[in-house]
Amino acid sequence: MGRFNLLLVWSLHLSLCLLLCPTSAQLKTNYYANICPDVEKIVKNAVTNKFQQTFVTVPATLRLFFHDCFVQGCDASVIVASTANNKAEKDHSDNLSLAGDGFDTVIKAKAAVDAVPQCKNKVSCADILALATRDVIGLVGGPSYSVELGRLDGLTSTSTSVDGKLPKPTFNLNQLTSMFASNGLSQADMVALSGAHTLGFSHCNQFSNRIYSNPVDPTLNKTYATQLQQMCPKNVDPDIAINMDPTTPREFDNAYFENLIEGKGLFTSDQVLFTDSRSQPTVRTWAKDKTAFNQAFINAMTKLGRVGIKTGHNGNIRRDCGILN
Ligand code: HEM
Ligand SMILES: *[C@@H]1O[C@H](CO)[C@@H](O)[C@H](O)[C@H]1NC(C)=O
Repeated sequence: MGRFNLLLVWSLHLSLCLLLCPTSAQLKTNYYANICPDVEKIVKNAVTNKFQQTFVTVPATLRLFFHDCFVQGCDASVIVASTANNKAEKDHSDNLSLAGDGFDTVIKAKAAVDAVPQCKNKVSCADILALATRDVIGLVGGPSYSVELGRLDGLTSTSTSVDGKLPKPTFNLNQLTSMFASNGLSQADMVALSGAHTLGFSHCNQFSNRIYSNPVDPTLNKTYATQLQQMCPKNVDPDIAINMDPTTPREFDNAYFENLIEGKGLFTSDQVLFTDSRSQPTVRTWAKDKTAFNQAFINAMTKLGRVGIKTGHNGNIRRDCGILN
C-alpha cells in the first residue's frame, strides 16, 4: 500500500471516528489533575458530611448511579428535575423510590466543588455521582477503588427513555443477563453488581407476590418468608420499606451471597442467581471469598461507569445538576 493510500485509510478512520466513536471515549483517573486537583477530597468531604446526617445516603447514592448508567448512559440525566414541558427520567414509574438522599448527595457535593473558584462549572455532575458512589461504598466497609473520570452531563432527560431499560425484581436469569449484556456487562458482572443489595431498603410491594402466592415461593427460606409476612402484612402502608440484607444491612460485605445460599434473597431476581445452576457456582465462590467478590465488584462498577459516556457535542457540564443548561 502506498503512502497516499495509508494516509487515506488513516484519515477515513479518523473522520469515521469523529462521527461514531464518542461512545468509546477514553475516561481517565487523573482527568481533573490540572482542572480541579482536589476534586476527590472535596467530594469525599461532602459525602461524609451527608452520611453523618443519614445512613440512607449510602444505598440511595449507589442505586442512583446504577439507574443513571442504565438509562442513556452515565450522564447524570437521572438527576434532572421535570419541568412543565418535560417529564424527566426520575419521574418514570421504574424510578419509584429512588431515595431523595441520593440526589441531595450529588447536589451538595457539586456545591462544595463549585465553591472552589478554580473548579466552578468544571466538574460534571456525572463524574461527581461516580465519585460519590465510590465514597459511600467505602464509608460502610466496602472496597475503595480509583474512579475513571471525564464524563460529560447529558443534554436530555425524558421519562419515556426509561421504558424497558431497568431490570425488574421478577426477572429470571436470562432476562437479567441479556439486559446487562446490552450494557456491555457480563453475567458475572451482573451477579457481582447484584451484591449491592447487601445494602438498603425495599418496599413491600416489590416482593409481595413471593410471600402471598399459594404456595409461598418455594425458593424462599420458610423462616424468612414468615418474617417477611410479619414485616409486610397484606394491607401494609406502601411507604414501609425493609432491609434487603437481613443479616448486616448497614455493611457492604458478601453477606448477600451467603443469604442467597440460605434462601434469603429478597427478590426473584436475587434468589434466581442461586437457584439457576448457571450462576450458582459464582454465588458459592463469593459467599466464601469476600476478597474475590470485592475485586469482581470493582471491575464491574468500573465497566458500569463506562456505559454510554458523553463527550464533545453530546454533553456539557451542567451548572445545576437538576436543570439542563
Ligand atoms: C440485577 C437487577 C436488579 C434489580 C431487579 C433491582 C431491583 C431493585 C428493587 C426492586 C429495589 C427496591 C426499591 C424499593 O422498593 O425501594 C432495589 C433497591 C436497591 N438496589 Fe437494586 N436492582 C438490581 C440491581 C442493582 C444494581 C446493579 C445496583 C447497584 C450497583 C443496585 C442497587 C440497589 C440499592 C443500593 C438499593 C437500595 C436503595 C435504597 O435503599 O434506597 N441494584 N433494587
Ligand atoms: C433458613 O433460615 C434459618 C434461620 O435463619 C437457617 O438456620 C436455615 O439453615 C435456613 N434454611 C435453609 C434451607 O437454608
